[in-house]
Amino acid sequence: MEHKIAIVGFGGMAEWHFDEIKTIDGLEIAGIWDIKENRRAYASEKGLHVYESLEDLLGDQRTDLVLIATPNDVHKPVAIAAMKAGKNVISEKPITLSSADLEEMKEASESTGRFLTVHQNRRWDEDYLTVKEILREGKLGELFRLESRVHGSRGIPGDWRQEKEHGGGMVLDWGVHLLDQMVMLFPEVPICRVSAFLTHVTNQLVDDGFYAELLFENGVSALVEVGTSNFISLPRWYVLGADGTAVIEDWNLNGRIVRASGVDEKDVTPVITAAGLTKTMAPRREDSIYTEELPKVKSDVREFYLNVMAVLEGREESRIRLPEVMRVMRLMEAIEESASKGETINRRI
Ligand SMILES: NC(=O)c1ccc[n+]([C@@H]2O[C@H](COP(=O)([O-])OP(=O)(O)OC[C@H]3O[C@@H](n4cnc5c(N)ncnc54)[C@H](O)[C@@H]3O)[C@@H](O)[C@H]2O)c1
Repeated sequence: MEHKIAIVGFGGMAEWHFDEIKTIDGLEIAGIWDIKENRRAYASEKGLHVYESLEDLLGDQRTDLVLIATPNDVHKPVAIAAMKAGKNVISEKPITLSSADLEEMKEASESTGRFLTVHQNRRWDEDYLTVKEILREGKLGELFRLESRVHGSRGIPGDWRQEKEHGGGMVLDWGVHLLDQMVMLFPEVPICRVSAFLTHVTNQLVDDGFYAELLFENGVSALVEVGTSNFISLPRWYVLGADGTAVIEDWNLNGRIVRASGVDEKDVTPVITAAGLTKTMAPRREDSIYTEELPKVKSDVREFYLNVMAVLEGREESRIRLPEVMRVMRLMEAIEESASKGETINRRI
């Protein structure tokens, strides 16, 4: 079955979708609408049909799907208008700016019977899928801690991402990806405690990074961190179990797993420093550990679109469900609340 998609907002990310959709059988771009003349002209140069207005786009009877790739504050009104016009909707992330807004979008989806989803493409990140595989294998023993970080050193982009009214800031920009990944590692386990701190190193109006400490009800604690003034990056993932540790250093999946081999270390050689000695913090003897390769997982992000098409054809369930999206939205709200009040939020999320 052939699906035709219309794109609202033809900026940087829409161009990524443009390249992606070209590689997908059964999906074709019907046209785009952007409020900026230069972006409309650019789309036209690329051979795309350019609608005359949003209304013109929504009135096109050939399309069954609308992708919204505008700044974050525009997602909700366009999504609701599109569903009311009979279109199924993919919103770029974050789906919107608050759980109340998402509730309205969900109601519009229910009342119109249209499908609404969000492009959580980083569920296909290979570093994330590798962590998922490490947890599935259970080689680290009882898991007690996860740390997920992304670090850059260029501050935040100088566009609408610096403006609060457009849904700027790193919690909504990168946080939504990392928090979504973290909650999807434990889809059935509620978070019971959130403590967060936002950074304002390069930007006062919106957060340019954050630290969020989460506690899951199964006792696993997690740190989610986004930094934009980090000239040295810490590992992308650091995963701790009672019997071993995994590290994923970077986007290229460099890293390793180190596990206890079961050999008892009776005679630990202490580390001697100027101020004293320690056996507790001394490195492991080589025969007491195994060092292993990561169980690297390959992925194909085009599965996102293939799944959307299968949902529209009634063949599959959506890989990205609104209750999960709502959970991440409520988590981002708890992070903002914890940071602004300087308090730990004890809430089931
Ligand atoms: N999933 C991802 O990996 C990923 C990556 C980057 C951006 N994004 C998301 O994609 C969206 C767009 O980000 P971007 O980086 O492409 O931004 P961008 O500024 O490059 O593009 C946004 C475009 O939307 C247009 N626009 C603004 N208001 C509009 C309106 N009312 N109607 C029609 N067009 C409008 C702008 O003119 C601009 O061309 C954001 O929600 C962002 O969070 C997602």
